[in-house]
Amino acid sequence: MGTPSPELVRVADKAAMAQAAADLLLARIGANSGRVAICLTGGSSPKQLYELLATKSYRDRIPWPRVHWFIGDERFVPPGDPLHNMTMARHAFLDACAPASNIHPVPTETGSPESSADAYARELMTFYGADALDPARPLFDLVLLGIGPDGHVASLFPGYPAVDVRDRWVVGVDKAHVAPFVPRVSLTLPVLASCRTMLFEVGGADKRPILTRVLAGEYLPANRARSNERTTFLIDAAAWPDTPPHALIVMGVASSGKSTVGEALGRRLGWRFEDGDSFHPPANVAKMSAGHPLTDEDRWPWLQAIADEIARCRAEGEPIIIACSALKKAYRKILVGDRGDVRLVYLEGDRELIGDRMGHRKGHFMPTGLLDSQFATLEPPAADEHPITVLVDAPVESIVDQVLQQLHIGQGRA
Ligand code: 6PG
Repeated sequence: MGTPSPELVRVADKAAMAQAAADLLLARIGANSGRVAICLTGGSSPKQLYELLATKSYRDRIPWPRVHWFIGDERFVPPGDPLHNMTMARHAFLDACAPASNIHPVPTETGSPESSADAYARELMTFYGADALDPARPLFDLVLLGIGPDGHVASLFPGYPAVDVRDRWVVGVDKAHVAPFVPRVSLTLPVLASCRTMLFEVGGADKRPILTRVLAGEYLPANRARSNERTTFLIDAAAWPDTPPHALIVMGVASSGKSTVGEALGRRLGWRFEDGDSFHPPANVAKMSAGHPLTDEDRWPWLQAIADEIARCRAEGEPIIIACSALKKAYRKILVGDRGDVRLVYLEGDRELIGDRMGHRKGHFMPTGLLDSQFATLEPPAADEHPITVLVDAPVESIVDQVLQQLHIGQGRA
C-alpha cells in the first residue's frame, strides 16, 4: 500500500515502555493546538501507560479539556464488566482526569455487536465532521495498539472477513479467535490507519513468538495495520525476537574467565575464537608494554578494529566469538551497535569472587588496585543491551551450557 515501514524502538522493560508511550502521547498532543483525538486500546499491554498518565507529572501536562478519548475495539459486555476495555481505561486514568464528555465508549448495553458498531461509526463520523476520511486530515492524532498471540490487532483476527472491510468504519465481530471469547466491536483497518501516529506496545516474553512472526513479514493483521503517516513499535527486551547470532562478545572484568569461556564456547559451537587484545594497534601494544594505562582515546581504534572484524565475519557468514572486557556501555555501542545478531555474553561476578579467582590463577598477577579500577569502570550491561548474563561461579562447561540455553541454539557440535 506504499505506507512507510514501521520504526522499531527497543526499550528495557514494560515500565520503560509505558514511559516512552506516555512521552510520545504528550508529543502528539503538543503537536496539535486544536482538538486532539486519541484512540486507546484494550488488553493488558496499555495498563501501565494508562496508570502513568494519571500520575501528577503527566496529568499536569495534558490539556484535558481539548483531548478526546476513543477505543479501537471493545468487548461486547456491559460497561463495568472486568472484560470491558473502556472501563479499564476509565478506572486507570480517564475517570480521574478527563471530562466525561470527552470519553467516547462503544455503546454495548443494548442491541447487537453490529448495531453497536453502527452507533460507534456514527459517533466517530460526527466527531470528524464527515463520513469519508480525508487522507490530508487524519481522524486520530494517535492510535494505540497491542498485538494478540495470533497476530490480531484491535478485534481484527487473522483470516476473519472483518480484516478486509474497507467500506465501513466499525464492524461487529461475533466470535473472538482467542480469549476472551465474547463478541467484539472493532474499528476497521482504514479507520485505524487514519492517524498521525500508530503506536504498538509489545512487551513481555510471551509476545516474542508472535512478534518474531510479525517482523518476519507474515500476512497478519498486525502487519496490515499501519498508519498512513507513521507507525512505531515499542518493544521491550523480553519480547525482542531472537535473531540467530553471528557474533558473541564474551565480556567482563579481568579474571572473569573470558578466554576460557570463549574458547569452550568456540569448541562447542565450532566457531572461531579470538582474543580481543590481538586487535590492539601497535601504538597501544607499545603503550601497555611500557606500563602505561590506555585512555579512551587509545581504545576507540581498537574497538573499531574489533567491530570491523565482526562486520567482515557477518558479511562472509562466518560466526565468531571474541573475548573483550567491554566494560563501558560506550565501548559496547561500537562493538554491538544496534545489530541484533551480535550478542553479549556477560560473565558476572562480584569483586570478592573475582578477586578470589584471581588469587588462584597461577602465573598471573594483577595488582588488586587494577581489579578495583576495573570494577569502578564496569557498567554492567543493562536489559536494553539484551545480554546473556551468567554467573562465573560455576564450572566452565556449565557456564557454556547456560549460554547456549539462553541463546536457544544447538548444542550438538563437540
Ligand atoms: C482486546 C484488544 C486486543 C489486544 C491484544 C493484546 O480487546 O483484547 O484490544 O487487540 O490489544 O489482544 O492484548 P494484551 O495486551 O492483553 O496482550
